[in-house]
Amino acid sequence: MTDHLAARVAGVVGPEHVLRDADVKASYETDWTRRYSGDARFVVRPGDTAELAESLRILTEAGVPVVPQGGNTGLVGGGVPRGGEVVVSSSRLSSLGEVDAVAGEVTVGAGVTLARLQEHIRAAGWNFGVDLASRDSCTIGGMIATNAGGIRVLRYGPMRAQVGGIEAARVDGSVIRRLPGLAKDNTGYDIPGLLAGSEGTLAIVTRARLRLIPQLAGRAAALLAVDGVAAALGVVSVVRAHAPSLEAAEVFFADGLDLVLRHTGLPAPFPDRAPCYLLFECAARDDPMGELVGALEAAGGFEASAVASERSQRARLWAYRERHTESINAEGVPHKLDVALPLPRLEEFEACVRGTVKKAAPEARPILFGHIADGNLHVNVLGLAADDDRATDAVLRLVAELGGSISAEHGIGVAKTRWLHLTRSESDIAAMRAIKAALDPANLLNPGVIFGKQ
Ligand code: FAD
Ligand code: MLT
Ligand code: ZN
Repeated sequence: MTDHLAARVAGVVGPEHVLRDADVKASYETDWTRRYSGDARFVVRPGDTAELAESLRILTEAGVPVVPQGGNTGLVGGGVPRGGEVVVSSSRLSSLGEVDAVAGEVTVGAGVTLARLQEHIRAAGWNFGVDLASRDSCTIGGMIATNAGGIRVLRYGPMRAQVGGIEAARVDGSVIRRLPGLAKDNTGYDIPGLLAGSEGTLAIVTRARLRLIPQLAGRAAALLAVDGVAAALGVVSVVRAHAPSLEAAEVFFADGLDLVLRHTGLPAPFPDRAPCYLLFECAARDDPMGELVGALEAAGGFEASAVASERSQRARLWAYRERHTESINAEGVPHKLDVALPLPRLEEFEACVRGTVKKAAPEARPILFGHIADGNLHVNVLGLAADDDRATDAVLRLVAELGGSISAEHGIGVAKTRWLHLTRSESDIAAMRAIKAALDPANLLNPGVIFGKQ
């Protein structure tokens, strides 16, 4: 090896786990949306916590910045190099601990994918509170780093709420370890909570102790056609109140459904096209279909409906919602805005946002969908060059005016740094910078992410 630094790191992890060939590095260098990419000096794949910590120590001593990467499904460009960093991949941190049935917890490596975790714990009769459509690739470390949300937040909260303990390597090679984690532990700052949502800027997560939920065998889903967001919110509020087993409440619109049908070949769900669609799922020990149907009858206000209990039938309904991301990507490189609104302002936001996009960039094409019960809409903007921020700027300013957040669940990454000040105060940002400076004084851990270029 001619790169002296790569040779030193290879001495720790083994030469086969330091990737330097352009072809081999390529999949680590471009993000899922294809909007963000950069050259990595090399990619290192440590096999355990000690190897990762020692690699970090060597890289820090050499003053070389690093980008932590899990499954590379992040949507804000924070997990790929900007130019010259070393990518530290968690792909080999794949340990799966035995499920602790007394505590209802499990300890796993940061590189374990969500699907692998689900398979492992379901075999022991448990389930996990966070679920995302990227489950086959996204990793536990990446989900903690982004504080991932997904489709069950209304019942179980985001990733932060599932983390009972953590192990992470700091930039100087020291290791923070709160494992297995205690149900009650008021001994100072909550490090797992701090690392959740830190987007790889404070430490690299190596293992986590995760809280599990009971596996609920009874499941029922319903897809509804509704007149618009006002009607949708009316239905959601009644279903929430009448169905304690409610786990998911999702929304999408006619133009997004058209895209999904075109790219997937799925048949239309109903004979008539509707402006807006709602997808609900309930989960309970016994079949929750009666509860779901009762709640829908109490709500009324929908034009058409389809319900399903059996797994493949439910998956058929979910495909209309979950296949939005890939269908949008198939149309072009999207600008992905992931915003949260106070629920009382959601209707106003949805009524304005398409016009706001068109006014800022007439050629742009907005497609909306999201997690309606969380006030979280994904505003995907197609038809603009990757560096054309006109629509982003206008939409994020609208969000701020309405009291929302510029990122509900994807994070700031490198994509939203310019707009962080819109929904975080100067003193909030100063406090976050102080934490960053204390844990990473030389700014070597994912530089540019959250705060932009220093
Ligand atoms: P990566 O993309 O590899 O990295 C994401 C960030 O985490 C980067 O900043 C990276 O530096 C950092 N990071 C990664 N691993 C570590 C680690 N071990 N230690 C410290 N930092 C680390 N997100 C949602 O919230 N909700 C959804 O419903 C959702 N659905 C999605 C559906 C699809 C089809 C796709 C493609 C993406 C979706 N996402 C969703 C976004 C994405 O899957 C999540 O952000 C996920 O948590 C990223 O995990 P990852 O392992 O792929 O992380
Ligand atoms: C989703 O809810 O499907 C995700 O957050 C992915 C996306 O926004 O495309
Ligand atoms: Zn989402």
